[in-house]
Amino acid sequence: MIRKVLLGLGAAVLLIVAILVIAISVRWDRRFEAPYPKLAPSRDPAVLARGRYLAYGPAHCSDCHTAPADYASLQTGSSPSLSGGVEFPIPLGTIRVPNLTPDSATGIGRRSDGDITRLLRYGVRADGRAAIPFMEYHELSDADIVAVISFLRSQPPVRHAVPDHALNLLGKAVMAFAIKPIGPSGTPPAESPASGPTLERGAYLVTAVAACAGCHTQRSMVTGQYTGPRLAGGSPMEAADNAHTKLVPPDITGNPGTGRAAMWTEDEFVARFRAGVRIPGSPMPWQAFQRITDDDLRAIYRYVRSVRGS
Ligand code: HEC
Ligand code: HEC
Repeated sequence: MIRKVLLGLGAAVLLIVAILVIAISVRWDRRFEAPYPKLAPSRDPAVLARGRYLAYGPAHCSDCHTAPADYASLQTGSSPSLSGGVEFPIPLGTIRVPNLTPDSATGIGRRSDGDITRLLRYGVRADGRAAIPFMEYHELSDADIVAVISFLRSQPPVRHAVPDHALNLLGKAVMAFAIKPIGPSGTPPAESPASGPTLERGAYLVTAVAACAGCHTQRSMVTGQYTGPRLAGGSPMEAADNAHTKLVPPDITGNPGTGRAAMWTEDEFVARFRAGVRIPGSPMPWQAFQRITDDDLRAIYRYVRSVRGS
C-alpha cells in the first residue's frame, strides 16, 4: 500500500517537473510589446559632446560596454570604443555585454534608433525579449537619449562579435516567470534640467542618469525591489577582484550621523569624486564618476543631502 502511494507520488512529482521544464522551454524567450519612442539622432556637435559626457561620465555606459582588453586604458582616463564583450557570471548564467559601436554586423549598426530607444526606456530588446535588468535609464529625458544615441552612431565601427547570454535552467526559469521589462514610472521629460548646481538637476542625475539608488538602497535578492529607505545604504556587494571581500554601499543621504552628505562638506564631496577609486575592486564606477563636472557633482551633493529617512 505504502509502496503504491510512494510510486504514485513519485510519478506526480515527475509529471510536475516535466510540465515545468516544458513551460520553461516554451516561455523563457517570450516576447513583449512596448512602444518605439520617436526620437531621431542628431549631428549637432553640442549634442554629440553631451552624449560622450553622459556615456563616459555620469551614465557610465563605458563601465560595462568597454571591451575587457581596453578596461585598463579606461581606468587611466582614456575613452576607448564601447565594443563590448564583458561577461558577468551570475546565478542565472553568463550575461554578455553587447558591442555599442556602429558596426553593421556585430554592433548597433544592426539596430534601428527605435530598437535602441525602446530598450533604454522600456527594457525590451530588439528581438522582443525582456532585457536582463542591468540598465536603469528608463527615466532619461528624450534629449539625453538622443544625445547618447547620436554619440554612439558618430563613433568608428569596431567589428567585435559578442554572443548572446548563456542562460542556465534557473536563468531560463527566471526569464519564463519572473523577469518582465521595466519601464518609466511616468512620462520622462523632453529636456533635462539645465546645468547648474540645483536640487532639480541633482535629483535627475541621481535618479535617471547615474542609478545611485540601485546600489545605495537595500533591495530584495529575489525580486530586486527596494526594501530599505532610498539611498540610505545598500546590500553588501562582491569586490571585483575578490569574491570574498564584501563592500557595503554606505548611506549617502543627509541623515545626521550616518549619511555621507551630512558628514562631508560640498567641497569634500567633490574632492572625493575627483580622487576616484580608493578601495580596489569597488563596484562603484568611480572612473566614470570622476569625469562628472563640478557643477553636476555639486548638484548631486545638494540633492542627496536633502534626502532623509532611515
Ligand atoms: C551595469 C552594466 C551596464 C551599463 C552601465 C550599461 N549597459 Fe547597456 N547593456 C548591458 C547588458 C548586460 C546588456 C544586454 C541586455 C540584454 O540583452 O539582456 C546591454 C545592452 C545594451 C544595448 C543593446 C545592444 C544591442 O545589440 O541590441 C544597448 C543599445 C545598450 N546596452 C546601451 C547602453 C547605454 C547607452 C548605456 C549608458 C547610458 C549602457 N548601455 C549602460 C549592460 C550595461
Ligand atoms: C554599482 C554600484 C554603485 C553605484 C551605481 C554607485 N555606488 Fe557609491 N558606492 C558603492 C560601493 C560598493 C561603495 C563602497 C566602496 C567604496 O567606497 O568604493 C560606494 C561608496 C560610495 C561613497 C563613499 C565613498 C567613501 O570614500 O567613503 C559615496 C559618497 C558614494 N558611493 C556615492 C555615490 C553616488 C552619489 C552615486 C551616484 C552618482 C553612487 N555612489 C553610485 C556602490 C555604488
